[in-house]
Amino acid sequence: MTTPTARLALATCAELPELDSDDHALRDALLERGVATDVVVWDDPTVDWGTYPHVVIRSTWDYTDRPAQFADWTRKVERTSTLLNPASVVGWNIDKTYLRDLEKAGLPIVPTIWLDPERNLDSRAIHTRFPAFGDFVIKPTVSAGSRDTGRYDAGVTQQRSLAITHAKNLLSVGRRVMIQRYLRKVDTAGETALVFVEGQFSHSVRKGALLEGPFREEQVLYRDETLTARDATDAERELAERVVAALPGIAPGADGPLLYARVDLIPDDEGNPVVLEVELTEPSLFFALSEGSAGRFADAIAARL
Ligand SMILES: Nc1ncnc2c1ncn2[C@@H]1O[C@H](COP(=O)(O)OP(=O)(O)O)[C@@H](O)[C@H]1O
Ligand SMILES: [Mg+2]
Repeated sequence: MTTPTARLALATCAELPELDSDDHALRDALLERGVATDVVVWDDPTVDWGTYPHVVIRSTWDYTDRPAQFADWTRKVERTSTLLNPASVVGWNIDKTYLRDLEKAGLPIVPTIWLDPERNLDSRAIHTRFPAFGDFVIKPTVSAGSRDTGRYDAGVTQQRSLAITHAKNLLSVGRRVMIQRYLRKVDTAGETALVFVEGQFSHSVRKGALLEGPFREEQVLYRDETLTARDATDAERELAERVVAALPGIAPGADGPLLYARVDLIPDDEGNPVVLEVELTEPSLFFALSEGSAGRFADAIAARL
């Protein structure tokens, strides 16, 4: 850690000490507005967070197998500084069980079966929870960048047993697991990510389908994504707006508008958008795909300083 020079920190992970390249446009846009930034690694023990009145979370993507340490870090930062988004919101958002809260609020999510590690489910009990036919997805509730996520064909015995092993491995280290049918319209339509700044829609992008098959052990921070600019449909825009509007009643501490929110939608088999995830922690914001978006985000940050 070099001596702090700026009063605003952008938090990243050790593997990306200069941020994800997409965020370089944000640094530049902030500088144009007279706001210098330090890029700081969230788990660097030498950092004195108190020197930064404001800390904005960006590419902290390596916490997924130690979420408790990350949540502790957010609370620690908040003792001396303003963390964006706030620790209470992050604490709620890093575990996808928040999708249950959205569902209770009447928002359509990808239909999910939840497996708790405390229940010590055996192979048979896991197996009976798989869909009878078609492809399905196994993923941990704490994940980013499609890590630890796999796609399986229920019609193939060998794939079912790989899926059981995958689920068991996650459960055995205390991770909660999600089973979802693979919503196959994503193969043609892709996923739509809608970015909101201070509660206002900013821009949207299309992400190509990511899952090809069973989970394989690989040491990557995130899976490469095929991204293109895309205008959200009216139905997507309407659903994402509903999600963002519902957050104050659902996410602890989200009383006012959040600096940033990203709502990821995929189509169900009828073609209606459903919520895949809501990223309030460390979303890629895809500035390169939308003219002016880095500037809008920089304006919003500058207004909060
Ligand atoms: N039920 C599903 N149907 C189709 N694709 C899925 C499903 N669940 C996950 N995926 C694919 O896997 C990717 C990662 O899953 P996601 O739930 O977004 O977790 P992460 O937090 O790792 O981004 C998605 O972008 C999508 O391509
Ligand atoms: Mg995702």
